[in-house]
Amino acid sequence: MGDMQKINMQLPDDFYERIKSQLYKRIGKELRFAHRVIDLGCGSCGLARFLTETNGQQVTGVDIYDVNFPGEDDHASYAQRDLRCIKADAAHLDFLAHGEVDAVITVWALHEMDQPIAVLREAQRVLRPDGGILIVDYPHDSLAQRLWNENYYGPQEVEQMLKEAGFDEVRSELIEKNQVIWARATRPGHKVESA
Ligand SMILES: C[S@@+](CC[C@H](N)C(=O)[O-])C[C@H]1O[C@@H](n2cnc3c(N)ncnc32)[C@H](O)[C@@H]1O
Repeated sequence: MGDMQKINMQLPDDFYERIKSQLYKRIGKELRFAHRVIDLGCGSCGLARFLTETNGQQVTGVDIYDVNFPGEDDHASYAQRDLRCIKADAAHLDFLAHGEVDAVITVWALHEMDQPIAVLREAQRVLRPDGGILIVDYPHDSLAQRLWNENYYGPQEVEQMLKEAGFDEVRSELIEKNQVIWARATRPGHKVESA
C-alpha cells in the first residue's frame, strides 16, 4: 500500500464534511475582492449564500439541476441580499454578458461536468479582464476516490485544462492533507501597448 493510500485509510469518512466550514472561509478569503461572483455547479447554493452573507457579495449560483435550490421562502429572503440561483448548463451561460463577473468559483463540480473545457472557456468569457477563477475539487487517489469512486482529475490535469481554455497565471496545489485540489488562474488582462 502506498503512502497516499495509507493516509486515506486513516481519514474519517466524514472528513469532507468536517473541513467544509474552514474551506468556505478560505474560499471567502480568496474571493474577498470580487464583488460579482458566479458559482458553477452550486448544488443547494450553500456557498453562494455564505459568500453573500459574509462578504456581502453579489453571487449567482448555477446548476444544471434545480432540485436542491433553496425553497421559495428562502429565496425571497435572500433575493434582496444579492443571491440568485439559476438552472443552466455551466457550458452555456447565455444570461451573462462578456466580462460581467469578477470571479468564478466551482466546488466539487468540475469532475462532474461533461464538457469541462467548454465550461472553462465560458467562465473566461463572462469574467472581466484580470478576473479570477478558483477551482476546488477532489483529486484522484484521494479519500473521495475510496468513498465515491468517481473519475477525478489530478492538479496537473486541471492546470492543463485551464491553460487550454486560455487562462493566465495558472497554479494549483493540494491542500487539506492532499484531499483537495485548489487551482487558481486569471483571465488575461488588457494588453498595455508599448511605445
Ligand atoms: C457534487 S455536487 C457539488 C455541489 C456544490 N458545489 C457543493 O459544494 O455542495 C456537483 C454539482 O454539479 C452540478 N453539475 C454537473 N454538471 C453541471 C453542468 N454542466 N452545469 C452546471 N452544473 C453541473 C450537479 O448538478 C451537482 O449539483
